[in-house]
Amino acid sequence: MRKNLRVLFLGDIVAANGRGAVMRCAPLLREVLALDLLCANAENAAHGFGLTPKIAEGLLESGLDLLTSGNHIWDQPQIIDYLRENPTAPILRPLNMDSAPRNPLPGRGYADLEIAAGKRVRVINVIGRVFLEACEHPFFALEELISASAPMEDGLDALLIDFHAEATGEKLSLARLCDGRASALLGTHTHIPSADTCILPKGLAYQSDIGMCGCYDSIIGMDSEKVVERYLKHIPRARLEPARGVASLSGIFIEIEATTGYAKYVEPFRLAANETGMLRTSLPEECLPYKQELQRMLSGD
Ligand SMILES: [Fe+2]
Ligand SMILES: [Fe+2]
Repeated sequence: MRKNLRVLFLGDIVAANGRGAVMRCAPLLREVLALDLLCANAENAAHGFGLTPKIAEGLLESGLDLLTSGNHIWDQPQIIDYLRENPTAPILRPLNMDSAPRNPLPGRGYADLEIAAGKRVRVINVIGRVFLEACEHPFFALEELISASAPMEDGLDALLIDFHAEATGEKLSLARLCDGRASALLGTHTHIPSADTCILPKGLAYQSDIGMCGCYDSIIGMDSEKVVERYLKHIPRARLEPARGVASLSGIFIEIEATTGYAKYVEPFRLAANETGMLRTSLPEECLPYKQELQRMLSGD
């Protein structure tokens, strides 16, 4: 009998404390959850802004299979040449940023991964158009890459979409369009996990936003005082800095049915560094015996 596919997708990794927590926990999470695939959005991994090649390589070496991104992908200039020179690196930038076929952007918006036991998984990264810079329509960009029926009928064991967007209505609309055509659509970008983890009627796992891997005693991972000052004054004086403190992890755990490629089971994954803070722990059952060990790993103790 074919084994169902087990996936953990983590939300935006913010700064050194976020990526340290992810890198320390990744090996144990892989083992405990018997993961076939571990992905994360890494658009804020470099001090809150973008991703450097060295940071990307460190995250991948720690046990992540693939990194997605979003509007901050070009914040660190070194990543531009790196993606141009390493077109097959498992690092995605939003697919629909590329609107000039004669002058294509570096990098790619999707990857087909061969994972254990010969399974084939496609991961696509698209970006929204509401309250973000103009880009191609995410659904029209997606259409060539997703079949009109179950992922299995397209020769895929799973098809996952990271929809990096601000507006919940836009995220839900794309999810409804993709229901029955993909395994999961996960929102990233707002850094705050939403409480709507579900499987839509035709088998698509969905959550409007899967949260961030960063310090939650903050404003979306950044030092609260400096962000508040920005909102109070018209001239931003202080550059935003990542919040200091122990990072928590947030994402989504999905089990995908081997025979169809649709989601069979879905659960939020939230490992809080501090039980009285903004994030409350909510873990798949298999992680519960390891909760304290994982929490110690967050801070590196
Ligand atoms: Fe982000
Ligand atoms: Fe973003």
